[in-house]
Amino acid sequence: MPRVPRRTSTILDPSRTPAAPPVVGAAFGDDWWRRGVVYQVYPRSFADSNDDGIGDLPGLIAKLDYLNDGTERSLGVDAIWLSPIHPSPGFDVGYDVADYDAIDPIFGTLDDFDRLIAEAHRRGIRVILDLVMNHTSSAHRWFEASRRDASGPYGDWYLWRDGVPDRFGRLRNPNNWTSFFGGSAWTWDEIRGQFYMHTFLPEQPDVNWRNPQVRAEMLAMVRRWLERGVDGFRLDVFNAFFKDAELLSNPRRFLGRRPYDRQVHRYDKDRPELVEFLAEFRALVDSFPDRMTVGELFSADPGLAPKLTAPRHLVFDFELLRQPWSASAFADASEKHEQRFDDDRWPTIVLSNHDRSRQASRLARGADAAASDAIARAAATLSLTLRGTPFLYYGEEIGARDVPVPWPEIIDPPARRGGRLIRLVVPWWNRDQARSPMPWGGGPNGGFSAARPWLRLAPDIGTRTVATQEGDPSSVLVAYRRLVWLRRRHPALQVGTYRRIVTTARDVLAYERVAEGETIAVAVNFGRAAATVRIRTGRKWTVIFDTHERGIPDVHADDQLTLQPREAIVLQAG
Ligand code: GLC
Ligand code: CA
Repeated sequence: MPRVPRRTSTILDPSRTPAAPPVVGAAFGDDWWRRGVVYQVYPRSFADSNDDGIGDLPGLIAKLDYLNDGTERSLGVDAIWLSPIHPSPGFDVGYDVADYDAIDPIFGTLDDFDRLIAEAHRRGIRVILDLVMNHTSSAHRWFEASRRDASGPYGDWYLWRDGVPDRFGRLRNPNNWTSFFGGSAWTWDEIRGQFYMHTFLPEQPDVNWRNPQVRAEMLAMVRRWLERGVDGFRLDVFNAFFKDAELLSNPRRFLGRRPYDRQVHRYDKDRPELVEFLAEFRALVDSFPDRMTVGELFSADPGLAPKLTAPRHLVFDFELLRQPWSASAFADASEKHEQRFDDDRWPTIVLSNHDRSRQASRLARGADAAASDAIARAAATLSLTLRGTPFLYYGEEIGARDVPVPWPEIIDPPARRGGRLIRLVVPWWNRDQARSPMPWGGGPNGGFSAARPWLRLAPDIGTRTVATQEGDPSSVLVAYRRLVWLRRRHPALQVGTYRRIVTTARDVLAYERVAEGETIAVAVNFGRAAATVRIRTGRKWTVIFDTHERGIPDVHADDQLTLQPREAIVLQAG
């Protein structure tokens, strides 16, 4: 449940900002954003150091060796992206920031954060923060000041409008915009006597990006974190920052699942001013060496992603995330990536995140543990060998599945909004299901915490933990480790070109990656039956990874290669 807003006093003092500790021993230099693998940490659910049931920064620091200790016994990731760690009343579980310059005390202190940067950098791991700049929390001091004094210094920092009187003299919403989380995008504020706009919850008022002071203040904040040693940012819903200057009503659409989908979002996002702002933002980020950013595209049109992509600025397009488990669906999605992205517009590979169903549940619906894990291993092969920067979501590496949460325990605010019944009418997926505490093993509550965790644990924590998988060579975790390290050794898998290899087997997706004198082929059998393919090019291929670990001998051109059900292999041309 949302917590009581909290005041916080720890504002960053630039004169006290420590010198940013250098990244040492990283596998890649300033092109790490293309070659490296990013791992998303959902801090609340990752590791709990003080047994209060909530993950925290000291807990994360204690697990850095798991993420990358420089050896193949660890996962080997190059960067971590942290979902928001700033003070927040928690109406959107941290995506409602009340103070951009501080750390929420549930996660630790600024000293813990500095230690995280130093300890991560010591292991060659870069740290990416989540920047939620489209909106603040309604508990942010800017909003408090803005609602209390329309003519004061913060008066114009949010999108305030008078209501429109109807013929009975009642004040109506300024326009027809809807909130993504349901209801109108406008809420009446008694204190100010005006409506304010919110793309998400009423507790997440959108800031006025047309106000130069807002821009300057946000950029100053970004600079402070860069100076503190942060290696990059994920920009939350960045294409929603700018709204139409006149706040015109959106055209209607007749089809659409939710009210939000029944409008064409012409005026409440994707405005041309965004491009100019991005240039300013990028110039700031680029004034620090080796930094990167990734934008979350808040749009149903993945074709927008490449248009907003730039060197060292990636944009999630969620094309792959929408695909069912079939060779043709993944082939088409990869083909679209090829058409949309080139070398200067580098794609991302995203199969899961904190807003979506876990990939094993989505791709292996209703499957038993063995089939689910087989698909998880094959999906891992795709995420780590397709062309683009892979973003792995915590828990995917052990094949975690969605955890059903009964109604009284649901925390995700949009899922609760409107109550149990209205959810039948306005469907909203409960995002808690993909946010359950990480089962490390070897202790109470799956080894996550001695206290009852903030969110329900997976029903299979007795069998599915990091500890159980570590010792099992056929586990999902061991497959991820092998694949990440394989990718690290092979430039073709990092930056190589992509070309589909056409085979006659309907359930097999095969492709070639070529770079720096290396040729690598990947073949994934999506089906439940064995499938035979021929790789006609090359002279001799050596199998360098196999989800099934069968010890496949070298394959020659025109040799038949039979893939087992849900088997994925990686081959190198000799
Ligand atoms: C992004 C986040 C999501 C959040 C929303 C509002 O889509 O990923 O978790 O609810 O923005 O900040
Ligand atoms: Ca804790």
